[in-house]
Amino acid sequence: MGRLRITTHFDPQADVVLYQGDCLDFLREVPDETVALVVTSPPYNIGKPYERRLALDEYVAQQRAVITESVRVLRPNGSIGWQVGNYVHQGEVIPLDVLLYPIFKSLGLKLRNRIVWTFGHGLHARKRLSGRYEVLLWFTKGDDYIFNLDAIRVPQKYPNKRYFKGPKKGQLSGHPLGKNPGDVWEIPNVKANHVEKTAHPAQFPVELVERLVLALTQPGDWVLDPFIGSGTTAIAALLHGRRAMGAEMVPEYLDIARERLRLGEQGRLRVRPMERPVYDPRAPQKSLPPKRVRLVSVAEWRAEQTQLPLFAAATEQKAPSPSPQET
Ligand SMILES: C[S@@+](CC[C@H](N)C(=O)[O-])C[C@H]1O[C@@H](n2cnc3c(N)ncnc32)[C@H](O)[C@@H]1O
Repeated sequence: MGRLRITTHFDPQADVVLYQGDCLDFLREVPDETVALVVTSPPYNIGKPYERRLALDEYVAQQRAVITESVRVLRPNGSIGWQVGNYVHQGEVIPLDVLLYPIFKSLGLKLRNRIVWTFGHGLHARKRLSGRYEVLLWFTKGDDYIFNLDAIRVPQKYPNKRYFKGPKKGQLSGHPLGKNPGDVWEIPNVKANHVEKTAHPAQFPVELVERLVLALTQPGDWVLDPFIGSGTTAIAALLHGRRAMGAEMVPEYLDIARERLRLGEQGRLRVRPMERPVYDPRAPQKSLPPKRVRLVSVAEWRAEQTQLPLFAAATEQKAPSPSPQET
């Protein structure tokens, strides 16, 4: 079993780069137009253990510097996924995506989706409604961008539904590979009983990042997370034959990231399966158990793909043309 090549500075031959320090210092090491996807959940300036609460304009200026560098290292056909919640000051809610959108726009990026990530658990508010979603802004650098929709289709609600009249009468009306997942994603957040929970206070779930990796990059591509925390982005990237790089200020969080990667090398890392439905207490039998995954280098991942029995058929099969309502 091959070991992952994990380096502490940018190295084009690495599987994973984990830089300990300020992300701006790290980004200076990365050449222009290197990464296919930047995906991150930056500090929200809400006083988490890893952040010093800043005046809002100072916070926005810091974010601008990181976003500007992220755009520089992004390939022309690449994407950015910036996942944020709200900044709350004396009971007033300020949505960070609204605050940060003008920065991306001023740098020439185009918003493709404002994805709502919704989840069932969180703090219970007393003087307003409890917050149960955050936002993921998906921007592209250009108009000619990677978008593998087929890789992230989800099961149709009625897979056998057919046209009942007209020239297509009798044919399946939905896309045979499943439907577009839409821009509202219901994915459990990483709370105490989540299988992926570590000591990091603000992890995002692997499956949130997996969708972006699959849709917005190709195997072998680089995925960058400037605020990589416990290494979730690296896990999602490696699971699908991509490479990952990221920076983290707090050494203990990088220890967690390295430990997760080590468990992955041994095939002992537990993640919540992407295809697992949200737990429904009325139908617990529908729930899939967590799975243990093995993380491998891009070369090993490619070799494994060619050994899958369906590989030849899947690559030769022409993707069905989209149904007319898809744009
Ligand atoms: C919201 S958390 C990201 C968690 C990550 N998505 C995960 O799943 O573990 C933000 C992280 O950014 C780190 N951080 C804050 N400022 C930083 C900086 N200037 N450079 C690098 N990391 C920073 C924090 O220590 C924290 O771990």
